[in-house]
Amino acid sequence: MDLSSNEIIAIASDHAGFGLKQVLDQKIRSYGFGVLNLGPLDESSVDYPVYAGRLASSLITGEAARGVAICGTGVGMSIVLNRTPGVRAAVCSSPDVAELARRHNDANILVLGARVMEERVALQCLDIFFETSFEGGRHARRVGLIDNSDNSNI
Ligand code: RB5
Repeated sequence: MDLSSNEIIAIASDHAGFGLKQVLDQKIRSYGFGVLNLGPLDESSVDYPVYAGRLASSLITGEAARGVAICGTGVGMSIVLNRTPGVRAAVCSSPDVAELARRHNDANILVLGARVMEERVALQCLDIFFETSFEGGRHARRVGLIDNSDNSNI
């Protein structure tokens, strides 16, 4: 683990990700972290941008050290989350992607698609996301460029 065990991890989903969110909530607590579960509270249909916004805010205010977001595919959550400077949300389809998202991109939010992956794989992604440290070095330069980039060179 590259986080101390008293850190708070924020989690959020929409209705499609609700069931997996509850499973991951328990798994994150088993690592020793505190969990800030930002909802929803059941499987009633909701709009993912609302919950993505709550999750992004919890990281930016420092309320949470890292986050986990789940929707049907992971795509909607990631689009919204990555609009907030300082948030680096990575949609991960395998443990290998989750590992590289930490090592190379210093991803601070793991995004999963509950309708497109098995629960077993989601749990593997979660394990590796919290076990893996950022490599720094040349990757730190690139990550540093992300929030300074306005794409004006395109
Ligand atoms: C909800 O039906 C679904 O559109 C949502 O969970 C997500 O996959 C959007 O990207």
